[in-house]
Amino acid sequence: MEHKLFSPITFKEVTLKNRIVMSPMCMYACEPEDGTVQDFHVTHYESRAVGQVGLIMLEATAVQPEGRISTKDLGIWCEKHIEGLKKVSDRIHTHGAKSSIQLAHAGRKANLPNDILAPSAIAFNENYKTPNAMSIDQINETIQSFKVAADRANQAGFDVIEIHAAHGYLINQFLSPLTNKRTDSYGGAKENRYRFLSEILEAIKTIWKAPIFVRISADEYHKDGNNMEDFIYYAEQLKKQGVSLIDCSTGGVVPATIQPFPGYQVPKAEILKKHVAIPTGAVGLITSSIQAEEVLQNNRADLIFLGRELLRNPYWAKQAANELQFDLDAPKSYERGWL
Ligand code: FNR
Repeated sequence: MEHKLFSPITFKEVTLKNRIVMSPMCMYACEPEDGTVQDFHVTHYESRAVGQVGLIMLEATAVQPEGRISTKDLGIWCEKHIEGLKKVSDRIHTHGAKSSIQLAHAGRKANLPNDILAPSAIAFNENYKTPNAMSIDQINETIQSFKVAADRANQAGFDVIEIHAAHGYLINQFLSPLTNKRTDSYGGAKENRYRFLSEILEAIKTIWKAPIFVRISADEYHKDGNNMEDFIYYAEQLKKQGVSLIDCSTGGVVPATIQPFPGYQVPKAEILKKHVAIPTGAVGLITSSIQAEEVLQNNRADLIFLGRELLRNPYWAKQAANELQFDLDAPKSYERGWL
């Protein structure tokens, strides 16, 4: 049987050489705390490109300084960030991988000294600040920040952007009835709760023509949260708005105890793919080539996002290729050791 893990896939004009994606992972490594790329980031992301990952996605990168999860987050809120980000993207390209950046705003989950923002003034839990409910002006400014960030991502040479609408961060806070108690046109029915994300996408699309992925939390682990019908509605809207892929994660909206198991989030990617006919990414405790291959062969998702496994093993792609008996191209300088 033909392997799918090492088959290329094209989104708009961007062809990934295989289905392996480095899942966005905050490194909290900005020192000084001004959001600029450090040597560590270049080494960290380039290593996975040497390891033949098809798409390298940079961690949640803040579109506004007050949208950082911590003071050590990467940023894309000012012009000076472009240079370092371009260096990472260029280094990734050198090894035949494509580059992506996750644009993010933490909302009420920002752990910062300043005031924080959210759709409604409800704290995540007692360890977090109570956010200020955003004014319409602040909503519009934030939408603009996503647009300007996409323009900077374009200048830095990224191939794909991902909008972080998962894990209980700002966009997710608008989507969820648990965190969005607004009475204006951004709150109430799901059509209204989706408006913030919709407007961000429309703003970005005026300047960004390449693929856009959106990461959502497709389970809120709470009976009053968004349900599968709501997620199908969101996925339909994302498809209508031209989003290339939904990256299906879960959780983080409200405190919840979950017991993850291998592939625990794959069914979400599968349901959205089947119901809405939109490409999806599967993520979460996918660690073996067989597991990844099963997801792809059965059309449950189109891309495999690997997080912690790639922290442990930047050469996971090589290991998977050996297991699947696929002849993976070696980085030129490694040919003599690539058995
Ligand atoms: C993450 N995750 C994450 N997700 C995201 O959308 N943006 C981010 O910046 C981060 N940051 C982050 C940091 C670290 C250290 C970890 C371990 C995780 C979640 C990550 O992308 C992935 O969805 C989960 O880790 C589940 O996949 P794995 O690790 O089981 O393959």
